[in-house]
Amino acid sequence: MKIALFDAKQYDIDSFNNINNKYEIHYFEEKLSPKTAVLTKGFDAVCCFVNDAIDKNVLDILKENNINIVLLRCAGFNNVDIEYAFKKKIHICRVPAYSPNAIAEHAFALILSLNRKIHRAYIRTRDFNFNINGLTGFNLAGKNIGVIGTGKIGQALIKIAKGFGMNVYGYDPYPNSSLDITYTTLDEIYKVSDIITLHSPLTNETYHLINEESISKMKDGVMIINTSRGGLIDSKALLNALKSKKVSQAGLDVYEEEADLFFEDKSDAIISDDTLSLLLNLPNVIITSHQGYLTKEALENIATTTLESLNSYNNNEFLVNEVCYKCQKNPSDCYKARKKNCF
Ligand code: NAI
Repeated sequence: MKIALFDAKQYDIDSFNNINNKYEIHYFEEKLSPKTAVLTKGFDAVCCFVNDAIDKNVLDILKENNINIVLLRCAGFNNVDIEYAFKKKIHICRVPAYSPNAIAEHAFALILSLNRKIHRAYIRTRDFNFNINGLTGFNLAGKNIGVIGTGKIGQALIKIAKGFGMNVYGYDPYPNSSLDITYTTLDEIYKVSDIITLHSPLTNETYHLINEESISKMKDGVMIINTSRGGLIDSKALLNALKSKKVSQAGLDVYEEEADLFFEDKSDAIISDDTLSLLLNLPNVIITSHQGYLTKEALENIATTTLESLNSYNNNEFLVNEVCYKCQKNPSDCYKARKKNCF
């Protein structure tokens, strides 16, 4: 069986080659798009990542090429037209939890680096500048952290925050009563938090959750961390708030217009996104290019789960990691709950 793996980077090639002894995997550097979908001719399955656009055009071409399964090497599936995939009877499988700790630890790395100005100290001392003016941080112990989205990653982050002695406030439409945190409203989170960290998925409801209005309700000098999806933050509103000092610091592992930039070397290019350029020029902003998941353990889990989904598909077994269109729409009419595939 032949797999076309798109948007392949060396770390993907290494992690898949390490565990694969069954499938013929062809690694394409290109992202999957209407232009590159023709490359799937002669393959049996397609494997994609967060910025591959799996829209109607792509799904039509995949179906013409007799491909009935798309394996996402990620948890989020906002880049897939799930409804159309269901209509075309193309299974979409994902990796729902490859390592919540990896992303939570990265979020905390951003918090610690920003607060203690590690990124600035590193540059100074490399230049033999041992002056520490302007590098003052604050103790995390006793401060309030607001966690928006208390799922797998949010919970891993809560454990770390508690280890630092922080007071944890949480918001989630489905609160988890087993967590020893203070669940409250979004407005209260904005009001009390010294640090706000985002761990909810990107949906119509969460798109631009952090905007001019919500920022105006926040504490002066709040720190904002986003390791979830770029679309949760209105970047222009964040830039303005950083300029006015309402927001003191921002750590972003994701950016709403990241698709053509992140994961690529653009050091020779002129970046036309002025908001991103301005954000990158601020000393109190750290942007990493969607590397929250990038640990050895997470890469191993991604490769293993992806190939396990393909094994299940080949054996006509229940696809435990299938994204279920019906489930999104009507959980009571869900095949998945009955351990059956959607079609
Ligand atoms: P999860 O599904 O375990 O948790 C998400 C939580 O968000 C759930 O508890 C859900 O009830 C909550 N939620 C849903 N709607 C909400 C809303 N309107 N407001 C607040 N909370 C809401 O997902 P997990 O694994 O914790 O991942 C969270 C997000 O992290 C993913 O959706 C993905 O976008 C992002 N992610 C980022 C990665 C990176 O490398 N930076 C890697 C993996 C995931």
